[in-house]
Amino acid sequence: MAARRNDLGSPGERTGPPEERVREIGERLLATLGRQKWMDRPSYRLEHTLGLARAACGGAAGRVSNLLYGTWLGHPLHPLLTSLPIGAVATTVALDVAGVLPGHGSGLHDASRFTLGVGIVGSLGSAVTGLNDWQHTQEQSRRVGLVHGALNAAATGLYIASWWDRRRGRHLRGVAGSGLGYGITLVSGYLGAALVYRSGTGVDRSGARLAIGGWTPVLPATALKAGEPQRVEVAGLGLVLFWNGEDVVAVGEHCPHLGAPMSDGWIDRGRIVCPWHGSQFEPVSGQVVRGPATAPLPCYPTRLREGTIEVRGGDPQAAGVTTGVGG
Ligand code: FES
Repeated sequence: MAARRNDLGSPGERTGPPEERVREIGERLLATLGRQKWMDRPSYRLEHTLGLARAACGGAAGRVSNLLYGTWLGHPLHPLLTSLPIGAVATTVALDVAGVLPGHGSGLHDASRFTLGVGIVGSLGSAVTGLNDWQHTQEQSRRVGLVHGALNAAATGLYIASWWDRRRGRHLRGVAGSGLGYGITLVSGYLGAALVYRSGTGVDRSGARLAIGGWTPVLPATALKAGEPQRVEVAGLGLVLFWNGEDVVAVGEHCPHLGAPMSDGWIDRGRIVCPWHGSQFEPVSGQVVRGPATAPLPCYPTRLREGTIEVRGGDPQAAGVTTGVGG
């Protein structure tokens, strides 16, 4: 498997006003976690367990995975689900605070237990989708992601204990448990945000789009072998060409999932397959047929002129251009 880059950044030698100290602490935390190579062994064991769980789904494994990735949605599902427990437990904490004010009583207690229950359900859904996404991360991102998941698991455990305490009438103990859990959730949220905004987990990695409007010759048709994706450069931008029957398809050179070079992939029933994690994309539209990618692969109009493949920018479907070999 080709090497992948995951850079969560490293702390610089910053000095400055006190407000920068907070940022520096966050950066040092990320850098320290990212260096903990001892986490790799339990990480790969966990990944192996996830692989077994996937295999246990049999013929439905692909559909289940697409559901959890958010491929059907065109957007990662995990970030959507994380907002549910964060919002629900924040409401619980607010209701708990309101509950200690004079004149408020058991009605708020019932409401806070209900919102906490919603948060627990959301946390479980978030954990399943997060694990599914995490299994494809590498190196620093994988280590930070493991801590992110462990913190969320601890917080969820506290939420469940808090819900049970509240149900048994131990309200103050329940309030303490959910308050502590929410503090852990906030720290974990910082790590989760770093995974997205620094290492690009879940972000569309397909890169810049071809913007030229005119047809540009890129390759003699005889130089493109059937079943073999080939990289070309157009206006300084890498594209990948392949035959789909009698048509030539042009797509972006990087997989939207984690940026794999699509020229190292292969063609399966006309679809280009990512070499790293097996995402499959429809020819012409670039829509994801199989995850973990959730964003489409950029596709471009092509035509054949005097034995040369020509490409131009724009959406082949929206532009109404016939993709493939023309006269
Ligand atoms: S990089 Fe992961 S599916 Fe392509």
